[in-house]
Amino acid sequence: MPKRVLVIGGAGFIGSHLTEALLARRALPTVIDNLSSGRLENLDLADPRLAFVNLDVGESHQGIAGSALDRLIAEADFVYHLASPIGVARAHREPFDTTRRILEDGLNVIAGCLRHRRPVLYASSSEIYGVGGDHALGEDETAGFGLQPRWGYGAAKMAMEHLVAGLWREHGVPAWSVRFFNVVGPRQNPESGLVVAAFCKAVLDGKDIVVHGDGNDRRTFMHVLDSVSALVAIAGSRDLRGKSINVGGLENISVRELAELVVKLRGGGRIVCKSYEEVYGIGFVPVKDRRPKLDLLQSATGWEPRHTLEEAIAGCFATMERWRLEQGR
Ligand SMILES: NC(=O)c1ccc[n+]([C@@H]2O[C@H](COP(=O)([O-])OP(=O)(O)OC[C@H]3O[C@@H](n4cnc5c(N)ncnc54)[C@H](O)[C@@H]3O)[C@@H](O)[C@H]2O)c1
Repeated sequence: MPKRVLVIGGAGFIGSHLTEALLARRALPTVIDNLSSGRLENLDLADPRLAFVNLDVGESHQGIAGSALDRLIAEADFVYHLASPIGVARAHREPFDTTRRILEDGLNVIAGCLRHRRPVLYASSSEIYGVGGDHALGEDETAGFGLQPRWGYGAAKMAMEHLVAGLWREHGVPAWSVRFFNVVGPRQNPESGLVVAAFCKAVLDGKDIVVHGDGNDRRTFMHVLDSVSALVAIAGSRDLRGKSINVGGLENISVRELAELVVKLRGGGRIVCKSYEEVYGIGFVPVKDRRPKLDLLQSATGWEPRHTLEEAIAGCFATMERWRLEQGR
């Protein structure tokens, strides 16, 4: 386990759990975050082994040599780059800014890792598979992108994967990309619009649970703690250097079944369906199903999930309730 670890986007949902896991493994993490969607409260800043730097990694785009980001990369033994604009709704609404941010932030981080020869693990997304299909998606599957706004996010993540793979293949700097499929659990920010957090928020607000489409679209969910154990295992795998690896769960259910599960666990109002057009306007491309093939991850690392979707939903409710109490103080 590397000692000095830089976690870019470490005040966010996945990043803060990763930071906790690194501390438990006796690493010394430094978190960089601009707090655009993350929260300082997600981090235990009282722990003297943890350092936090409030920094926007996209700001050094005039060339990062000598910048604060460059220095922090130079001081690290390992870099996790998790910072990104997230959420399909934002990608659809602000495709230019989403695409630009992923590329600008990513180029700065990759340039620093190349300059200082620092191993880096990059957070990509199952969005790179585009509309996918009704089968488990393997890493070799190719996806075509149209110019519809939604795909700016996935196309930019895919471009980043090429840079990450090139770091290892052409420059010998160890680098990995992980393709997350719907990670859920405590600390997920409901403002992201991601489905589990959105359903939990609706229940706590006493509002209807709004399912987009007819409810038959399917997704595969993974508890955030399982995503973190996968990240740590991948970062330790020599065989996976230069590769893109699916990181997802085993529980594939329809969005309607998910809404029913949330209601079963916590009660709540009505479940109503709204067409994609009503929610996003015209030009939105829906995805029927997304499920990962996990053979590469499992054969290379022996990773197994240990947490259920029910636990993730309960954890999501628990943090949202705590945040509400804190806000009311
Ligand atoms: N959660 C999921 O289901 C999921 C699925 C696919 C991909 N991902 C990817 O995983 C990564 C982590 O996602 P998450 O769910 O934890 O999101 P998140 O929004 O909770 O975390 C991202 C963090 O990055 C920070 N950030 C954003 N831009 C920054 C910048 N320019 N400089 C510094 N900090 C910045 C945010 O403040 C936030 O704390 C992202 O790259 C995301 O695209 C997540």
